[in-house]
Amino acid sequence: MAQSSIPDPVSKLSEGQLSQLLDAAKTAAAKAYAPYSKFTVGASILLKSGSIVSGCNVENASYSVTICAERVAACTAIADQQLDWKAIVIVSPSGVSPCGSCRQFLSEFAPDLPIYYGRLDSSLAQLTVTSLDILLPAQMRLEDL
Ligand code: THU
Repeated sequence: MAQSSIPDPVSKLSEGQLSQLLDAAKTAAAKAYAPYSKFTVGASILLKSGSIVSGCNVENASYSVTICAERVAACTAIADQQLDWKAIVIVSPSGVSPCGSCRQFLSEFAPDLPIYYGRLDSSLAQLTVTSLDILLPAQMRLEDL
């Protein structure tokens, strides 16, 4: 993984698991429906069961209703009642970090979720590693309402 000043939050996961997760994210990105931006994003979540769920971005002619890859993957897990998540890998052409809406959406279910992100052609070692509590500090939580 890329050098980082924070401890690797996913050190408990094997390289094999992470490698599978990265491959799944790349496969998902290839299925993106992104005719407007041409920016294809794939996201894969490792579930507690060991299974992986994936999502791609789905754009729309009414641009604002576009759904990001991260939220598609999260909703796939939720619809299967799989709410215990170990990590997410996100890949995109330029390797962007998850958008603010996705950070908030994911934090509802996994406030400390380990996050890996990088480019579509990244190797495991080239991914940036961080976690949701770092990308979205002072999260609004249900107990605060
Ligand atoms: N996108 C994602 O899927 N995830 C992100 O975290 C950032 C942006 C998508 C939305 C849109 O289809 C395209 O990338 C360009 O913003």
